Amino acid sequence: MNWYVKEKDFPEKDSMEDKLKFLINYAVLAPSSHNTQPWKFSIKGNNIEIYVDFTRQLHEVDPEKRELYISVGCAISNLLLAAEHFGFGYKLKYFTGEEGELVAIIELYPDKRETDLELFSQIFLRQTNRGEYEPKEIEGEKLQKLKACVDDLRLDLITDQKTKSEIAKLISLAHKIQLSNKAFRKELASWPRHNWSKAGDGMAGYAFSIPSIMSLFGSFFIRTFDISKSQAKKDEELANKAPIIGILSSTEDGKLSWVKVGVTFEKVMLMATKLNLSIAFFNQPIEVPELRKELRTLLGIAEFPQLMFRIGYTKPTKYTPRRRLEEVIV
Ligand SMILES: Cc1cc2nc3c(=O)[nH]c(=O)nc-3n(C[C@H](O)[C@H](O)[C@H](O)COP(=O)(O)O)c2cc1C
Repeated sequence: MNWYVKEKDFPEKDSMEDKLKFLINYAVLAPSSHNTQPWKFSIKGNNIEIYVDFTRQLHEVDPEKRELYISVGCAISNLLLAAEHFGFGYKLKYFTGEEGELVAIIELYPDKRETDLELFSQIFLRQTNRGEYEPKEIEGEKLQKLKACVDDLRLDLITDQKTKSEIAKLISLAHKIQLSNKAFRKELASWPRHNWSKAGDGMAGYAFSIPSIMSLFGSFFIRTFDISKSQAKKDEELANKAPIIGILSSTEDGKLSWVKVGVTFEKVMLMATKLNLSIAFFNQPIEVPELRKELRTLLGIAEFPQLMFRIGYTKPTKYTPRRRLEEVIV
C-alpha cells in the first residue's frame, strides 16, 4: 500500500529510473474525485510525463473533465514536493493546450536536497475527512497560512453565518438535482467500496462513517433509491455548522487553469493538515452549471469557482486505498 512507503527506502544508489519511480509513490497519494485516480505516469530518461486517464472520467458528474484535470493537478503538486525533497530541481512544462492525454512533463536534475519542506511531510497525513467538525473558531494566523498557499487564484474563506446558510441551501439544492437523476446515481453507485474491499480505488464506506455491514449495500442503495432528501439535509446541516467554508476560484475556466487549481489546492490541503485542520468537499453547487452561476453571484466574484470545501477540527480517520504503481506507470 502506497501510504506505507518509507522515506528511508528512497533508492539513493540506484538508477535514475528507480529514483523517479519512487517519487510517483507520493503523487498517487493525492485526492481525486470519487478516488478515481485518473492519472498515468511515464518515465523517459530524466523526465516524468503525466497523463490523464480518460477511462476514469466521471461522465455524469464531470462532463467537461474539470475535476479530472484538477485531480491530476493535485498529483503533480505532490510529485513536485517529493522531487524537491529528494534533491531534484525541475522544469515543468504543461501540454494542456493540445488534445490528447499528455498534461505535463517534469524534467528533473540533481539539485540541493530540501529537507525542511513543510508540506512534503504532510503528504502521508493528508486525508479528506467527512466527520462533524468541532464548533471551534479557526485562528486568524492559520487562515493567513492557508491564504499564503494561493498566489494567482482566489481563495474565499467564509465565516459569516448568513453567507454560509445561503451556500448550504445551494448545496442542498444541488444534491436534490443530482441525486434525483438516475444516470447520475448509476455512475455514483459504481464507486463506493465495502469496508473489506481490497480494491485500490473508489470510496470506502468507512470514509463516510458507514458501518461495515451497511457498506455492503452502499452501491445498491445509491442506484436504487432517491437518497437526495437525506443527503441534502445532512450536508445542509454540515455546511451551516462548518467553522469555515472555503471556495477556490480561478480567472480562467479551461484545462490549464483546472490543472493549476489542483496544484494549488493540494498545497492548501497539505497546509491545513500541518495546521491540524481537516477538509471535506462541497463541490455539488459547482458541478451544476446554473448553481455555479448562483454561487458566483452570491459571492459577488467575477472568477470561476472550482472547488468548495469546509474546514475545521475533527479526529483523523482511516486512509483510503490507492492503486499499485504498476497500474499507473505506463
Ligand atoms: C476534484 C475533486 C473533487 C472532489 N469532490 C468530492 C465531493 O464532491 N465530495 C466528497 O465527499 N469528496 C470529494 N472529493 C474527495 C475525494 O473523494 C477523495 O479525495 C478520495 O476519495 C480519496 O480520499 P482522500 O482524499 O482521503 O485520500 C473530491 C476530490 C477532488 C480532488
